[in-house]
Amino acid sequence: MHADITLAVDGEEHALRVDTRTTLLDALREHLGATAPKKGCDHGQCGACTVLLDGRRALACLILAVAGDSCQVTTAAGLADGDTLHPLQQAFIDHDGFQCGYCTPGQLCSAAGMLQEAAQGWPSAATTDLTAPPVLDDTEIRERMSGNLCRCGAYPGIVAAISTAAPHTGVPEGSR
Ligand code: FES
Ligand code: FES
Repeated sequence: MHADITLAVDGEEHALRVDTRTTLLDALREHLGATAPKKGCDHGQCGACTVLLDGRRALACLILAVAGDSCQVTTAAGLADGDTLHPLQQAFIDHDGFQCGYCTPGQLCSAAGMLQEAAQGWPSAATTDLTAPPVLDDTEIRERMSGNLCRCGAYPGIVAAISTAAPHTGVPEGSR
């Protein structure tokens, strides 16, 4: 069975016909040539495929493309503002937040979504005081980014990059 859907990917609207079993990740990569989201495990375990779906982070390998119909999809390629890198992208460069780079698009989208979650007061498993806005210390960042694995072990740089970029991404003072 096939279905006609529309996806807005990094601001560009696409109409496509997909087999209803197609994942959002395969629709992006194989149908639309949007290769920023990476296929690592294809089982929801590594985070390499993370995108923002209507602004919230999502694992594209676990979502059917038909479930993303009419949604806004932001990939790591769409985070930049033209030639100006997103603060997270610049911070990953400044803090050596990657080696091979395969996990990096997912790390960037996950970090962007995570900072918004924290700004909205969402607690994590590492949050000790549920009555106060979460403070994004290294423990909080590690916990909130724990769904994104890095086989190169660039974690110290990733945490430093997110910590540095947080003030430049509109995250309120109380969340840092
Ligand atoms: S490819 Fe989606 S979580 Fe690994
Ligand atoms: S930079 Fe290589 S897997 Fe993360």
